[in-house]
Amino acid sequence: MHKVVQNSFENAFYSGKGSMVLLREFIIGDIGRVYEIESRSFKDPYHPVFLLNLYETYPRTFLVALENEMVVGYVISRTINAAGHIIAIAVDPIKRRREIGKTLMVETMKRLRGCGVNNIWLEVRKSNIDAIEFYRKLGFVKGGIVRGYYSDSEDAIILRRLI
Ligand SMILES: CC(C)(COP(=O)(O)OP(=O)(O)OC[C@H]1O[C@@H](n2cnc3c(N)ncnc32)[C@H](O)[C@@H]1OP(=O)(O)O)[C@@H](O)C(=O)NCCC(=O)NCCS
Repeated sequence: MHKVVQNSFENAFYSGKGSMVLLREFIIGDIGRVYEIESRSFKDPYHPVFLLNLYETYPRTFLVALENEMVVGYVISRTINAAGHIIAIAVDPIKRRREIGKTLMVETMKRLRGCGVNNIWLEVRKSNIDAIEFYRKLGFVKGGIVRGYYSDSEDAIILRRLI
């Protein structure tokens, strides 16, 4: 991953497959694509109104990745009592395995560190083997299980990482 531009707002980089992807903070016009990716990625997607509420509450840590001006991924995080929490991350299914998710996470960790956070956590479905491997590669370790956490009663695995 070669970063070619870096400032407080935008972060351009070349993805593993050679095209240029840009990171920036979410704007309201992104909601259609974010919801589309959310719906294609989760069986219990967040409603667009909820996603917009998250944007209003955490505007600095709701980030999108764009390729050819189209949103191809996003991540939403927040700070609670000096810890960071990853609320959601997803990449367009046809754009996966090109380090877009990793780059969104790296930028998120950088921003959370800048807010004084030194550890982060997240919940992931026990059956979501792909995401668990993604997080393991990023240095997350298992911190516990929450039984019946999801609306269909599936357990959540808590993953943690120092940053
Ligand atoms: C998890 C997710 C965000 C990863 O995004 P991505 O852009 O495809 O991930 P990256 O390309 O940055 O992957 C980085 C590394 O993580 C690991 N990884 C990523 N996806 C993986 C998969 N499906 N299977 C195994 N390992 C995987 C690999 O080691 C990968 O590096 P490599 O491709 O060089 O082997 C994406 O799969 C996704 O949107 N999933 C659906 C939504 C979801 O489950 N979100 C998490 C909920 S908690």
